[in-house]
Amino acid sequence: MIEIDAVTVRFGGLIALNEVSATLSAPVAGIIGPNGAGKTTLMNVVSGFITARSGRVMIEGQDFLPLAPHKRAQKGLRRSFQKEQIADDLTVLDNVLVQTDWSLTNARAKRAEAMAMLELIGLADRARKIGAALSGFERRLTDVARCMVGGPRLIMLDEPAGGLSVEETDWLGDLVLQIHRHVGAQTVIIDHDVELIRRICAETLVLDFGRRIAFGPTAEVLADPRVKAAYLGTEEVGQ
Ligand SMILES: Nc1ncnc2c1ncn2[C@@H]1O[C@H](COP(=O)(O)OP(=O)(O)O)[C@@H](O)[C@H]1O
Ligand SMILES: [Mg+2]
Repeated sequence: MIEIDAVTVRFGGLIALNEVSATLSAPVAGIIGPNGAGKTTLMNVVSGFITARSGRVMIEGQDFLPLAPHKRAQKGLRRSFQKEQIADDLTVLDNVLVQTDWSLTNARAKRAEAMAMLELIGLADRARKIGAALSGFERRLTDVARCMVGGPRLIMLDEPAGGLSVEETDWLGDLVLQIHRHVGAQTVIIDHDVELIRRICAETLVLDFGRRIAFGPTAEVLADPRVKAAYLGTEEVGQ
């Protein structure tokens, strides 16, 4: 469970997050909103890349914002970025193993864990493929596998379905739904694909211009007129 309490972030005169609060407790929870709404900024605050001006974030009852970023990772926080963090000169397996460098678990156990995750996401047969040779989808899946090793408690995925085909998005969605059962971690996912969010997220937070405009069970949130209006606004801009 992640409790976000009145988090405010400013960049100069811009209020990127304005007293945002929400307690996300579903095994898979979503964050949606138009471009520039503050979604990535919220993940940056939780992972420690950005310091909030005020507010608090508790993960499973622990106050997270005072912790250094590497401490947050040790306590089970994982995230992916809009651009995958894959080293081109390492194999898929080594890209995943890098994530467990800090752990004291022995090498054999780490390897077994990494291989089990690759099995789960469907990349076990490509464990020795080099980063540079991966397709966009394989890179994305490797990125997710990196988040699943070393005892994660909370996994945050920033637009993991961006640029994927319908079939690839379905595969990714099924995978995310299995994370909690397999590794016990909660997943928080940002994505623009509302159908994906509807299918896999039991609860969803909606941001617009740095403010929370809706939060609750996903079906209710997506039916909220304020949410529809926020999305209609961006569609009109895009047309
Ligand atoms: N490091 C930064 N410095 C200045 N402005 C930023 C920075 N990061 C984000 N912003 C601004 O904050 C707002 C929210 O950005 P972001 O959280 O990336 O939105 P989203 O992920 O919802 O598209 C945007 O107006 C963006 O331009
Ligand atoms: Mg973003």
